[in-house]
Amino acid sequence: MNAPPDVKPRYRRFADTECKGYSDILYRLSVAVSGDDDVAGFIADMPVTQPNLFFAAIQLLTGPDGMPQTGSELRALVDRRGHEIRDVMRWRRTQTNEVGRCAVLLPALPPGPLALVEVGASAGLCLLLDRFCYEFGSRRVGEASAPVYLRCATTGPVPVPATVPHVVWRRGLDASPIDVRDDDAVRWLLACIWPEHSERRQRLERAIELARAEPVAITAGDLVDDLPALLVEVPRDAQLVVFHSAVLSYVDAERRRAFADVLAEASKARDVVWVSNEADGIVPEMAVAVPAGAQLRFRLGRTYFSKGRRRDELLAAAHPHGSELAWR
Ligand SMILES: C[S@@+](CC[C@H](N)C(=O)[O-])C[C@H]1O[C@@H](n2cnc3c(N)ncnc32)[C@H](O)[C@@H]1O
Repeated sequence: MNAPPDVKPRYRRFADTECKGYSDILYRLSVAVSGDDDVAGFIADMPVTQPNLFFAAIQLLTGPDGMPQTGSELRALVDRRGHEIRDVMRWRRTQTNEVGRCAVLLPALPPGPLALVEVGASAGLCLLLDRFCYEFGSRRVGEASAPVYLRCATTGPVPVPATVPHVVWRRGLDASPIDVRDDDAVRWLLACIWPEHSERRQRLERAIELARAEPVAITAGDLVDDLPALLVEVPRDAQLVVFHSAVLSYVDAERRRAFADVLAEASKARDVVWVSNEADGIVPEMAVAVPAGAQLRFRLGRTYFSKGRRRDELLAAAHPHGSELAWR
């Protein structure tokens, strides 16, 4: 079978830019897909051919310990269980909820009290950022006994806050919110964590436990169309922060502009702080070149909106899962 031309190079790019030095298993398997017409052809038949979706579908079936380790094991699995992989890839979309990103977001937050709105919140776990403990080099923020402990390596003058922020109100908005009380949905969230990343998996499990005990409200809706109505509900006696990470890449450039327009419009009634943590190039105002290692593919930006006007600050380059932060 000849695979359509884009799947093989896409998996090669994924191997080189996202997996190399970070996940040996996914690196090996992605390289294998990029050289295997049959497996690439199988993927090309799916409505979405994204590598993260394919590997999460496999991991949902095998568990992290049962993941194929080589190209030939992968091919055998696709031969044997292709119909099951196909079912998962047809009906699921990746919604990786990475609490590690909170370590990147924390230093960008203005002083509290805060009212937090997260768009593209997935299961809403990043909205619990004030419940976690952080280690930035030798500096610790939060209670050491917190259920979720995040380590973030830093370079540059990261303004590490003395304490976690005082959050008085929080709300998520997601096209397809994940209910942490739904065991099937939780299994899928865990399958989205790369196989050998057991520390990430463990802290995700702890954050889910926390969210089960202290539910976070997540409204189902679109980050442009449904945001204005949600913003009206935000209490006025707190600083409104609208934030997101790994979300705007899911919408096109016009919708990203429309999203910023919603915030500008809202700022005619009250000041809005927008914190964005997205892959380089996704938020055009934050696309200035910064000295960063190949792994620091995300850009942390903060925009102050007031009376319809905006002031942008590119703050840092960050690891996509929050393990490293290079402040400008
Ligand atoms: C990769 S997940 C990131 C989740 C979370 N922000 C994090 O960093 O852990 C992207 C999320 O964006 C949501 N999403 C994608 N397009 C959206 C839209 N137009 N409106 C609202 N949410 C959207 C998806 O449903 C998904 O939950």
